[in-house]
Amino acid sequence: MKEKEKSILKTLVVCKSRQSSRQMHIFPLLISSLLSSLFLLFLSYSSSCPSSPPSSLTLSLSAASHADPCSGRYLYVYDLPDKFNDGIVRECRTIFPWIDMCPYVANMGLGPHLTKTGSVLTGTGWHITNQWVLEVIFHNRMRQYECLTANSSQADAFFVPYYVGLDTGRHMWGHHTSLRERDALLLELFQFLKSRPEWSAKGGRDHFILSGRSTYDLRREDNGVSQWGGKLLMLPEVKNMTVLLIESCPWGNGNEFSVPYPTNFHPSNESQVIAWQDKVSSTKRLWLFSFAGARRPGQAGSIRDQLFDQCVNSSHCKLLDCALAHNDCDTPTTTMSLFQSSNFCLQPPGDTPTRRSAFDSMLAGCIPVFFHPESAYTQYKWYLPDNYSEYSVYVPQDDVREGRVSIEEVLLKYSEEEIRDMKEKVVSMIPTLIYKDPSYKLESVRDAFDVAIDGVLRRVKSIIGNQSSI
Ligand SMILES: *[C@@H]1O[C@H](CO)[C@@H](O)[C@H](O)[C@H]1NC(C)=O
Ligand SMILES: *[C@@H]1O[C@H](CO)[C@@H](O)[C@H](O)[C@H]1NC(C)=O
Ligand SMILES: *[C@@H]1O[C@H](CO)[C@@H](O)[C@H](O)[C@H]1NC(C)=O
Ligand SMILES: *[C@@H]1O[C@H](CO)[C@@H](O)[C@H](O)[C@H]1NC(C)=O
Ligand SMILES: *[C@@H]1O[C@H](CO)[C@@H](O)[C@H](O)[C@H]1NC(C)=O
Ligand SMILES: *[C@@H]1O[C@H](CO)[C@@H](O)[C@H](O)[C@H]1NC(C)=O
Repeated sequence: MKEKEKSILKTLVVCKSRQSSRQMHIFPLLISSLLSSLFLLFLSYSSSCPSSPPSSLTLSLSAASHADPCSGRYLYVYDLPDKFNDGIVRECRTIFPWIDMCPYVANMGLGPHLTKTGSVLTGTGWHITNQWVLEVIFHNRMRQYECLTANSSQADAFFVPYYVGLDTGRHMWGHHTSLRERDALLLELFQFLKSRPEWSAKGGRDHFILSGRSTYDLRREDNGVSQWGGKLLMLPEVKNMTVLLIESCPWGNGNEFSVPYPTNFHPSNESQVIAWQDKVSSTKRLWLFSFAGARRPGQAGSIRDQLFDQCVNSSHCKLLDCALAHNDCDTPTTTMSLFQSSNFCLQPPGDTPTRRSAFDSMLAGCIPVFFHPESAYTQYKWYLPDNYSEYSVYVPQDDVREGRVSIEEVLLKYSEEEIRDMKEKVVSMIPTLIYKDPSYKLESVRDAFDVAIDGVLRRVKSIIGNQSSI
């Protein structure tokens, strides 16, 4: 698996080159051969995206909602032929060449129930959820959305439930698949959409789609440089749409928005959420910080070796080396037990800047330590506070790579009160970072899905509004 993952590195270059071409006027000498180091070296925090629009939606909604509580929030969901979604799930054995995904796409995408939760997890609401299945969970959550409409002229936004990440994944390591085969379903979908009056009405600008895989897997340029992944994000039609992804390219077309990776917690009632928040607020944190992960031998620019060394050398740090088979990091209780007993959790980039583990650690009430702005701050703007110091610690990865910083020293400077405040902030964020169990209507809890829908509606309104006011 690890070797296969390495090929993902190629794709980083694709998104990188966009960033670097923007920076060419500053660094005219740096060209293609240096693109990979550019990504890591020159992406300064100040070069991040503009901040998210004000969350005025709730206000304007309540003003308009006297007559119809769904006014401004109607969603139309395309009823696509089976092969675009459920058919892919049914052929679950083909989704990954080396993992049987069938157990993970089951239970509406939540995966197997986790029954042996022991003292680490609260009793109910836990599953073994795979990190690539968000398309299935999201689509099922959509079925519970309270303002669905079958009348397209009433709809404020249009959801296209094509499981693009799962489909792309089937061919990503394709030994024999031609590009034509790889793109077949994607191209067929857009043929279909463009023939529809729902699309033509606004040129798709009120349409959205979700990917449970990273942007880096969906921007194949067919320019002979990289053959990696699919090309959803390169299609001209998609540039009109809003695209939700677990990891976006902030300097892409400006239409990519990040949503949280799925974690293992999918509560079905409010008391499960409160019980969990109470538990992680009161667990005893034995370690100042911890790290769960593997080294990345051979991955240029990775700071994981330095983090391993710093953790091993610190009596305040607990290391979980996921390369050792007996440390079963795929078992949710293993990592959740570690995160629950640590105040800070190190979250360096992996194959790409983001990691699901960041969400697991916040779910455990562990304050994340990020080393790259793309790991969280420029990504999950609908979800995380603008002031990142309220809930996280930022240590620039260059400082780690060049041995200029002791993470232990940085973290020891935080007082007990500061740690308590940050932890409280993290715990308060838990509901909007998780995906509720789609089998239940649980209106008292706003989850990551609800936040995503608000974001989409806000964006569609701003685009359509701008257009009509011209
Ligand atoms: C569809 O919605 C439009 C706009 O709200 C409304 O005028 C029309 O009557 C609706 N059509 C049906 C069949 O309900
Ligand atoms: C994208 O939107 C523009 C209007 O902003 C429209 O002219 C164009 O046809 C749309 N593209 C597609 C592929 O529908
Ligand atoms: C919530 O779910 C748990 C576990 O299924 C159950 O024991 C509890 O009674 C439920 N609470 C409420 C308020 O429905
Ligand atoms: C940390 O420990 C490693 C061995 O794990 C050692 O080689 C290295 O010199 C130590 N680094 C520091 C900064 O103490
Ligand atoms: C950001 O949060 C930190 C920690 O809560 C606080 O000390 C700082 O004043 C805040 N900065 C701004 C600009 O609000
Ligand atoms: C719409 O217009 C507003 C105000 O001019 C601007 O802030 C916003 O970025 C625009 N939205 C888009 C998607 O262009």
